[in-house]
Amino acid sequence: MVVAEKEQVEKLKELALTYPDIWIEKVFNCKLWEKQREICRSVLKNPRTVVPSCSASGKTFDSGRIVLWFLLNHYPSTVVTTAPTFRQVEEILWKEIAAAVSQSNVPINCHLTKTRIGMAHTDPERDWFAIGLSTDQPEKFQGHHNIYVLVVGDEASGLPDTIYQAIENPLSSGYTRLLLIGNPTQSTGGFKDAFDSPIYNKITISAFDTPNFKGITLDDIKKADTWEDGELPFPGLIKPRWVWERFQEWGENSALFQVYVLGQFPQAGERNLFRLSDIDAAVRREIKPEGVRVASVDISLEGGDETVYATRMGNHVFDMKGWSHQDTNYTEGRVIREYRTDKSVEIFMEPQGMGMPIITHLETLGVPVTRWNPAGKPVDTELFMNQRAEQYFLLKQRFEGRDRHP
Ligand SMILES: Nc1ncnc2c1ncn2[C@@H]1O[C@H](COP(=O)(O)OP(=O)(O)OP(=O)(O)O)[C@@H](O)[C@H]1O
Ligand SMILES: [Mg+2]
Repeated sequence: MVVAEKEQVEKLKELALTYPDIWIEKVFNCKLWEKQREICRSVLKNPRTVVPSCSASGKTFDSGRIVLWFLLNHYPSTVVTTAPTFRQVEEILWKEIAAAVSQSNVPINCHLTKTRIGMAHTDPERDWFAIGLSTDQPEKFQGHHNIYVLVVGDEASGLPDTIYQAIENPLSSGYTRLLLIGNPTQSTGGFKDAFDSPIYNKITISAFDTPNFKGITLDDIKKADTWEDGELPFPGLIKPRWVWERFQEWGENSALFQVYVLGQFPQAGERNLFRLSDIDAAVRREIKPEGVRVASVDISLEGGDETVYATRMGNHVFDMKGWSHQDTNYTEGRVIREYRTDKSVEIFMEPQGMGMPIITHLETLGVPVTRWNPAGKPVDTELFMNQRAEQYFLLKQRFEGRDRHP
């Protein structure tokens, strides 16, 4: 190698170990956006980095290049990559790695297969490679010790606990780096634990941080009747029109919007109607009784469920009373006793199934029963299929503190 060439190689190496983002741009002929740069620098500086992010922010693009940056600038080194399914390893992350190798401005003397890149070197005692592993065989993560080690978990919310345990093995010795990156789809699990742990450097990416949203806020999206994107600086990355559509279909407070647009961990299970934080706030909220006292009875005469008798004044609910006698006479007598004691002016009951004879009998005794049919016609027939859906929606609003006076 001529002296000038050697100097150039050394300069490049120095750049790699101070500004990995600029090294990546130079070597792989690309332009990173701000958070992609921040992730590169974080992996250089911090043993552990966790990145919950919105969709299509360039996570895999960046991770693939970080794998190569680490591998090419650390000898001897082992890089272990994983994702929840082997398809995600092979067809997504490793496709990105192969693309970067083919775009490289410097010759990379390596042997590249679908999920492995071995660097050419002469010392049989040393390992120098990167590998993609699936999650069905956690034992494959064992034994990958080296002087330099990088572990990358893409789509990290979907990685099982067994893998979170297994990756600690290669991280237990040497100079080690861990990058966990993905959509934060689960409110519990290893990805969330990492995000809550003080030993990780955390980088959150919202759609509104990404370069196609320059000058565009959530408020702009919320106010717009429709949205057309002009020419975008990074056409492959998340676009405002998609976020506008998600706002229309999912709504700002949905778990899906939190995860895929804002890059935030969901506050409740993805399919839950109520957010944990809203339930928590509702329990703490002080609500004064108002209006008249009404009761509701949910009858259960079979199975292990209890019959429940509850009263409320406005949105203030008093103690609920439950009993598990499956006897019609007992239930009838108990409802009459409770209603005479608390003097409710109305008792809501579902006119369905085993409870029907009780309702009919209570009515003949002059108890003020109001039949409430969840399968019945809703007030807003355009929005809701039946009363049940409509009432759940209104209840959700009450949990959110948006409708105090139903
Ligand atoms: N810096 C960049 N320059 C050019 N194209 C980019 C850049 N970053 C990402 N892309 C392109 O944008 C698209 C989305 O990127 P990528 O797949 O990495 O996003 P992601 O965040 O991993 O998406 P997902 O949420 O689906 O996992 C890809 O086509 C990728 O090649
Ligand atoms: Mg990805």
